[in-house]
Formats: sequence, C-alpha cells, structure tokens
Amino acid sequence: MSTDRFDFKAAASALAADGWCVQPGLMSAEQTQALASECAAMHDAKLLLPARTGAARTASVLRGDSTHWFLTGAMSAPQQAFTDRIDALRVALSRELMLGLVDAESHYAVYRPGAGYARHLDRLRGSDARVVSAVFYLNDAWQEAEGGALRLYLADGTSRDIYPRAGNLLLFLSAQFEHEVLPATRDRMSVACWMRQRTPGWSA
Ligand code: OGA
Ligand code: MN
Repeated sequence: MSTDRFDFKAAASALAADGWCVQPGLMSAEQTQALASECAAMHDAKLLLPARTGAARTASVLRGDSTHWFLTGAMSAPQQAFTDRIDALRVALSRELMLGLVDAESHYAVYRPGAGYARHLDRLRGSDARVVSAVFYLNDAWQEAEGGALRLYLADGTSRDIYPRAGNLLLFLSAQFEHEVLPATRDRMSVACWMRQRTPGWSA
C-alpha cells in the first residue's frame, strides 16, 4: 500500500506559513474506503451518538453531527491504521514546529443531510490542550453543488470553503481559525482529530 505520498515537510511548512493546509495521501485509497465503510456501517447500526457541546448534556443546536470516539485498546483495524498515521504526522509536526504535541484524539462524525456545525473554535471551554485540528474526509466523488463545505475563516477577513472529498486531510491551528460546517444534501462522513499539548492535569 502506498501510504507514503503524504508530504510531512510540506504540511509543516504550510502550517508554519499559513496556519492551515489541505493535503492528500495520508491513507491509501483502500484504507480510506475501509474507514468510510466502517463509519457508514456503525452509523447504520446506530452506534454513533448525537454530539454534545458545552456543559449541558443536551444535544446541541450548534452542531448536528453524530460521533464515535476511537478508544485506545478497542480500535478496529481501520481505526488503528488511521491512528498510527496521525501519530506519525503528530510526531513530525511536533518536531518541525516545536509544538510539544503529546497525544491525539479522534472520532468518526456523520452529518445527515441538512445538518451542520455553527461557526466555532476548537478550543474547549477553559482548555488550551488542542493545538492542531485535523479532519480526514471519507466521501467519494463529492460535488460542490452538494454543499457540506468546511468554511475556514482567515485572519484577513476572507474565508475558504473546503469540500469533504475522500482522502483529503485538512489541518489547521486550533486556536487561530474559527470555522463552520455548512449543510449538505447527502450524508457527510469524516474523522475529526485533535493533536494536543500537555496541560496542567495531563497524564499519560
Ligand atoms: C469539528 C469540526 C469539521 C468537519 O468536529 O469540530 O469542525 O469538517 N468538524 O467535519
Ligand atoms: Mn471544529
């Protein structure tokens, strides 16, 4: 399998220069398909749960996705393969950019047609643990007319729309970029991931 097409150095350079980038090649086509199949099957089996935001334990009006966290020690083969690649990327970015990224957390997300996620920052209330946000997309042959872009708001007041095409990895600095997920006309699947730094109370 050719999973060595992802250019770690180019990703690090783009993050340093612009704070964000989109690159293909993190996973092979077969690995990407395996993640997509498993995510769809788990969603069909009702194993993804409505995502929560904030302290309230009610389903959020801000976000309409359902998620399943990848659990250490209980990962499927596709989840483990993804986690191994993300960890390799985390180590490379941490070294190139001196970020002190100690771990990563990932979940599947499915947005049904019409569901989105309002403009937000990926820093959870009161925590600066999340340093790099990574979103790996799982949707074959996505068309712009189907909507579902991640809209990334840049410091100069403009924005970029990133469509959730299978095999593309979006990276951005969690503290710097507000973003939103626009509703789509078909199911929209991804793996969302955050690379984290050590914070007070952190334990391995
Ligand atoms: C998130 C998020 C973006 C996406 O889960 O915080 O912004 O494109 N996801 O799925
Ligand atoms: Mn987000």
